[in-house]
Amino acid sequence: MQTYLFISGKNWILSLAELSAYFKTRAIECKIDYFSTEFFILTFQKDLAPAVIDDLGGTIKIAALKTKVPTATVKQGFEKKIKSLQNQVIDAIGATDAIKNMAKAEDHKLVFGISVYTSDNSIKTVGGGIQRYIGSAIKEELAALGKKSSFMGTGGDRSEAQLTHVEVIKKDFVENQAEVILCIGKTDTWIGVTVAVHNPFEFQKRDVYKPNQRAIFGMPPRLARMMVNLSACKSEKTLLDSFCGVGTILQEALLEHAIVVGVDVNSWCVKAATENLQWLAEEYDIEGADFRVLQGDVCDLAGKVGVDSVDCMVSEPDLGPALKETPTGPYAQKIIDKLEPLFMDFLEQAYLVLKPNGRLVVVTPYIRTRSREAVTMQLEEKIKELGFKRVYAFTDDMFSPEAPEHGRLMGSATLVEMDERHKVGREIHILQK
Ligand SMILES: C[S@@+](CC[C@H](N)C(=O)[O-])C[C@H]1O[C@@H](n2cnc3c(N)ncnc32)[C@H](O)[C@@H]1O
Repeated sequence: MQTYLFISGKNWILSLAELSAYFKTRAIECKIDYFSTEFFILTFQKDLAPAVIDDLGGTIKIAALKTKVPTATVKQGFEKKIKSLQNQVIDAIGATDAIKNMAKAEDHKLVFGISVYTSDNSIKTVGGGIQRYIGSAIKEELAALGKKSSFMGTGGDRSEAQLTHVEVIKKDFVENQAEVILCIGKTDTWIGVTVAVHNPFEFQKRDVYKPNQRAIFGMPPRLARMMVNLSACKSEKTLLDSFCGVGTILQEALLEHAIVVGVDVNSWCVKAATENLQWLAEEYDIEGADFRVLQGDVCDLAGKVGVDSVDCMVSEPDLGPALKETPTGPYAQKIIDKLEPLFMDFLEQAYLVLKPNGRLVVVTPYIRTRSREAVTMQLEEKIKELGFKRVYAFTDDMFSPEAPEHGRLMGSATLVEMDERHKVGREIHILQK
């Protein structure tokens, strides 16, 4: 068994849902031991290949667990500056192979870093102190092993004592096993060494260097990847996006070696998505890349791609007009009412096109109104009428017995993705035929 620390992206619930779906789809056995707004602790039956991070849209770092200390030791030690407790944390790290492994790095002078993750605000305020104390202790220990080193902190201008993914990449921290991560939970503090880091340059490349872009409708590739993972897509499955636009979702599915099919009513989009997929297949050297993009209206999807023909569908249909002002409730409802027929036609066709047990991941608009309430699209009746089942992102069996209370996570049938500054967010539904 091996335990890993996962540092979550901005939307932690979506990140955790993605992880659960990704491992379940691949029958990789694991349990969630702990979750918080900043990190998750997962225990696996077997070692995890660090490269999985490239398949995930919502994970920033993965660290392998080295040791665990009580959070009370960290909290009292650093908040009250009690040296004996601070040294217990140092001793726990010293008893692992973490520092010896760092000393093996080929660089003449090793650069190493410490990052602290916690949702406890009072510990956050002493994060810089934790970094510096552990940093100087590791430096001393490395010197005793004959290794010159310098410690990279985050400086006083940052609110979080955390090195960014870009810093971790630029300083070769993964290759040199040179970043120690502290994940401070309510009762336990997990300490690990970073084994994988999210590469924002790759996702950015797919976003801004693909031949054809469309700023207003574009979906970030990281969100597209999370949705592809929620659909239980994997290599050799067929994935359809029937509102494919310039093919952002299709690109992410092709990177998982799925067979991808795109449909869009707009002929420019069909050409644009095809060119983007060709570019992706070359850029990422995807052998036997299998994709096609067809022009068509979603009302005739079954006629276009065939009944019972696809394993997964992932789509973001029209979400309504770009709003400059936060709308009133009645105006938001008007937008939803206008869009509803398209979504209902789409659900009918999706049910026909999916193979039995096939999965549909679909975005509906989530409109925040002036009274701070959300106006959303009601799919329940249509889902029932068609025979779709809702798939809950979280089920009890995903959590280990010692995991925190997770009833709140399991009770929610949809996942919401919304920036504070946005007027219209995305409500993500997972349905199964
Ligand atoms: C929100 S965009 C999807 C953007 C896409 N995810 C991307 O990243 O480019 C919706 C797309 O649905 C297409 N569309 C709108 N109505 C449609 C219909 N009835 N049938 C098929 N496609 C439609 C539009 O042309 C548009 O490209």
